[in-house]
Parts: sequence; C-alpha cells; structure tokens
Amino acid sequence: MRKIIVEGENMIKLRYPLISDAEAFFRILTEGKFEYYYATIPESIDLERKWLERREHKRKNNLEYNFSIIYNNILVGGCEIRIDKENSHVGELGYFVDREYFNKRIATEAVKALEKIAFEELKLVRLEIRMDPRNKASEKVAIKNNFEKEGLLKKVVKFQNGYFDNIIYAKVK
Ligand SMILES: CC(C)(COP(=O)(O)OP(=O)(O)OC[C@H]1O[C@@H](n2cnc3c(N)ncnc32)[C@H](O)[C@@H]1OP(=O)(O)O)[C@@H](O)C(=O)NCCC(=O)NCCS
Repeated sequence: MRKIIVEGENMIKLRYPLISDAEAFFRILTEGKFEYYYATIPESIDLERKWLERREHKRKNNLEYNFSIIYNNILVGGCEIRIDKENSHVGELGYFVDREYFNKRIATEAVKALEKIAFEELKLVRLEIRMDPRNKASEKVAIKNNFEKEGLLKKVVKFQNGYFDNIIYAKVK
C-alpha cells in the first residue's frame, strides 16, 4: 500500500487510517458530541473497525481518501477528500478534531495538507468545503485556507429527519 504522509507546516501529519485507530475514532466521535456536524457517528468500536476496513476499497476506486490526523504522535482527528461521483475533478473536504485539541490550528493545517494531496497528487481542479452556517469554527478553517465563499445551499442536507442549510466554500486551481 502506498502511504501518503504529509506534514503540515510545523505540527501535524496525515496518514491512511489503520484498523487499530477504531478505538480512538470511536471515542473522539462519541465523546465529542459535535454540534452542526452531519456525519454518521459509529455505534460501536466494532462497526468503526468495519468502516475503517472499507477505506482501502474506497481509495482504490477513487471514491474517498481518508486520513488520520496525528499531532505529537497522538491521533487527534480524521479528515478526507470525497470525490464527486459525477465530476471526478471535484473533491469535497471534511474534517473533525478531538474536542480536547480544539483551537490549536489542527484542522487548518489538515486542510492545507489535504489541499496539497488533492491538487498535486490527485490532480483535482476544484475543492469544496461545506458547513452548517452555525458551524463557525469550520467556516473559519475554510476562510483561513483562503477558500472562497460561493453561497448558501438551502436545505441541502437531510439528517435525522431534518433538512439543513450549508454554506459552500471552494477553491479552484
Ligand atoms: C471544525 C473543527 C474541525 C475545527 O478544528 P480546530 O482544529 O479546532 O480548528 P482550528 O484551530 O484550525 O481553527 C478553528 C478556528 O475557529 C475559531 N473558532 C472556534 N469556535 C468558534 C466560534 N464559536 N465562533 C467563531 N470562531 C470560532 C477558532 O478561534 C479558530 O480560529 P483562530 O485560529 O483564528 O483563532 C472542530 O471544531 C470540529 O471537529 N468540530 C466538529 C466536527 C465538525 O464540525 N467538522 C466540520 C464539519 S463541516
């Protein structure tokens, strides 16, 4: 397996997730009780392991590139590039960080590293970051990486029987 390791400017590393990351991811995602975050939270460590096992298939089929975020040799979060199925030059970036490590520029550095992989290795042309308008920390991450705000997508996300707006930020090469 080819490993991509990118070091952020001074502090983080991204590597492909290991099955043994399941416990840490499960804890970060369940204890985090993240607001305005519309990803599925794993129901058990075992299901998280199974989810991690499917990542290699996703990569091999150019669907999704997931990474563990390592800070001081500790796993502190996850991030990914999801390729648009209809338009394979477009990728959406996603990220989450252990609440214990918020506001240390970890997500900002992770996006910088994802951008490098997306443009330089995957040869993508357009990157998107979408977030709930109330998710100010996530919006700040997009702004700090010089993504441009393109607009508001009303009720674009369906989550737990509700429809939610997203702001869309993008960067094109
Ligand atoms: C969004 C998230 C990944 C940010 O991670 P992080 O490592 O703390 O981000 P950074 O430290 O790089 O940047 C966060 C910025 O938001 C700012 N911020 C945090 N909370 C804020 C708030 N309520 N209002 C305004 N700004 C806020 C921080 O001050 C920081 O800006 P600064 O560096 O200029 O001080 C993290 O909050 C998270 O995991 N949230 C839950 C999952 C999630 O929402 N993911 C994004 C889905 S779109």
